[in-house]
Amino acid sequence: MDKVIIKGGNKLIGEVNISGFKNAALPIIIGTVLSSDKCRIENLPMISDVSNLAKIMKMIGADVYLDENGFMDIDTKNIQKCVLIDEITRKMRASYYLLGAGLSRFKEVEVLYPGGCDIGSRPIDQHIKGFEALGAKVEIKHGVIKCSADKLVGSKIYLDVVSVGATINIMMAATMAEGTTIIENAAKEPHIVDVANFINTMGGDIRGAGTDVIKINGVEKLHGCNYSVIPDQIEAGTYMIMAAATKGNLLIKNVIPVHLEPVTAKLREMGVEVIEYGDSIQVNGDFDLKSINIKTLPYPGFPTDLQQPMVALLSTVEGTSIVNETVSESRFKYIDELKRMGANISVDGNTAVVKGIYKLMGAEVRATDLRAGAALVIAGLMADGITEIREIQHIERGYEDLVSKLKKIGANVKKV
Ligand code: EPZ
Repeated sequence: MDKVIIKGGNKLIGEVNISGFKNAALPIIIGTVLSSDKCRIENLPMISDVSNLAKIMKMIGADVYLDENGFMDIDTKNIQKCVLIDEITRKMRASYYLLGAGLSRFKEVEVLYPGGCDIGSRPIDQHIKGFEALGAKVEIKHGVIKCSADKLVGSKIYLDVVSVGATINIMMAATMAEGTTIIENAAKEPHIVDVANFINTMGGDIRGAGTDVIKINGVEKLHGCNYSVIPDQIEAGTYMIMAAATKGNLLIKNVIPVHLEPVTAKLREMGVEVIEYGDSIQVNGDFDLKSINIKTLPYPGFPTDLQQPMVALLSTVEGTSIVNETVSESRFKYIDELKRMGANISVDGNTAVVKGIYKLMGAEVRATDLRAGAALVIAGLMADGITEIREIQHIERGYEDLVSKLKKIGANVKKV
C-alpha cells in the first residue's frame, strides 16, 4: 500500500497550477453517451477517477483514448445498450450519471448502485423521482438500478433537497425528452453550469443552469463536440487553505475566482490576505489568524468538500471555531485522525467545536475519504515531525500529482 510521508514545518511558496474539475469532468465524460458521434474532452485531471471512468466507458462499448496530456477522445457509436453490472461502478459516485445519459439515448439502462466517498447514506431518491416524472419505470433489485421507458416526456420536477447529482442526472435524462422539463430547487454549483454548457455545445437546449430553476427544451438528437472542462474549485480551495496553514504565499493559477468566493471570504475573515486576479488568486497566510465559524451549504455557500481541509487549518488557529456540516450526513470521521495528531476537536451530531492548539504533532494516520486525505495532508504540512498518511488511494481519486505539485512549492513530502 502506498503512503504519503510529510515532514512538517515548511512554508509553501511559489505557483501552483490547478487541474480540470473532477466533479464536472466525470458527468461530462459520461454525457458523451448522449450522442453517437465522437467527442474530445479536454482539461481533464489525471486522477484515478478519470482513468477508472475510461475503463467504464470501454466496458459499455465506447471507443476511448485517454491521453496523458489531459484529453480523452470518446466514440460512443458502437454502444448497443447501457448495461454495467460490475464492481467498478462502486469505485466512484459519478457512475450513476450513466442512468440519466443511458436512459436518454437508449430508453433503458442498468447500473450497479454507485459507490464513492463514505460520507453518509447518500440516497438517490431525487434522481429516481426525476426519472419517474419523465415517464421512466425505475426498479432496484439486488443492488442493480434499472430504468426503462417507452418514451420520455418533459415534466416539472421540484427537488426536495438541493442535489448536484440529481440535477445533473435529470438534466441529462431530459435532454432528448419530448417537450420541456423544468427542474425547480436545482443545484447551482459551477459544474452544473459546465455540464449544461457541454450539452448545449452538443446541440442541447438547456437554460437557467446556475440558478435554481433550470429549463430543458428536449431536442431530437445531439452531435459530437470538443469541450474543455472548468478548473477544479475544490483543488484550488485546498491549495488556498494550504497556503494559509503553512503561513506561505501561493499564486494559484488557472482558476475562476468567482467560484472560490466562499473560501476567499472565510480566509479573509480569518486574516489571510487573498488577492483575486483574472484567472489566478494570490494567498498570503503569513499573519496571526483568528478563529471563525463555518456552515457548509450548497453553492454559493461554503462547500462541504472543503469542510475537512478547513477544519485541519482551524485546528491550530487560536480560539474556538464552530463548524456546522449541513450538506453531508456524516463527514467528520477524519477528526479521530486529526486527534491522533493532537487536535482538540469535539463533535456533536453535525457540529464540530474546534479549539485551536499551538501545534499538531506528526503521527501515523489514515485517509478515510478523498477530502479527509487532503485535510490530513494539510495537518501534516503544519505539524511538528513526520506524518505518515495511509490509504492514499482516496486522495489519488481527486488530486492530480499532489506530491509533485507540493514538492515544487517547497513541501518536504514523498510517496513511498
Ligand atoms: C456531489 O455528490 C459531489 N460528487 C460531492 O463531492 C459533493 O460533496 C456533493 O456533490 C455536494 O456538493 C460528485 O460530483 C461526483 P448531492 P452528490 O446529490 O451529487 C442528499 C468530493 O469530495 N441527497 O448534492 O452525491 C445527499 O444525501 C465529493 O469530490 C438526497 O437526500 O451530492 C446529501 O446529503 C464527495 N437524495 C445532499 O443531498 C438524493 O437523491 C447533497 O448531495 C440526492 C442527494
